[in-house]
Amino acid sequence: MTKENVNIKPTFLNLWPTVFMQLSLPGHESANPVLADLILSKNVEVQNMTENYNEDNIFNMDHPVIFWLQQCIDKAIDDYSKNSGINYTLNWKLQGWGNVNMKGDYHNLHNHPHSWLSGTYYVNVPDQTDAEIFRNDLNPASISFFDPRPQANMNSIKNDKQVDPEYRVLPQSGDLFIWPAFIHHLVHPNMSDAPRLSLSFNVIVEWSDELIPN
Ligand SMILES: [Fe+2]
Repeated sequence: MTKENVNIKPTFLNLWPTVFMQLSLPGHESANPVLADLILSKNVEVQNMTENYNEDNIFNMDHPVIFWLQQCIDKAIDDYSKNSGINYTLNWKLQGWGNVNMKGDYHNLHNHPHSWLSGTYYVNVPDQTDAEIFRNDLNPASISFFDPRPQANMNSIKNDKQVDPEYRVLPQSGDLFIWPAFIHHLVHPNMSDAPRLSLSFNVIVEWSDELIPN
């Protein structure tokens, strides 16, 4: 090998990224009790709110706390878009619904069709440390996201970033997560007597011919 070859600087590309965004919303301490009351009362009013998530849009509610949350989410989506290299005007609509997981409730593996991004804001994730569980692998109240590339971990070697097909996290109240809508995810059972409350949403892009890739 010549000395010239040694000095060549390679380029490393992270191809086909799966961008996951997480942040804690400032002001969540005062907003969350109001959101909790709102979601719990809506859950009584709308039968099976979480199962029939498409039937109602919580962002249509005329309420200051919903306005606050929508502004926070819109700002986050704007940041997400810019981070993804979207340097043109993008318009979207949020379609959102509340989730109430009582003790033992969980959400099976799923993704969110007909959307660009999806996300969840965590209103109340009850402490699970005193929860009675009978298996150590239960991961109560956590959420798991899965590598969209089938079996990409099969030939992975230590530290090569392909090892773990699952990203699992126990959200904190006040956290906002945003991810590509195609990502499969599941919510582990809540084992606390207090309900696990969150507000999920889809980001539906308003179509324009400008969105067609070159
Ligand atoms: Fe979901």
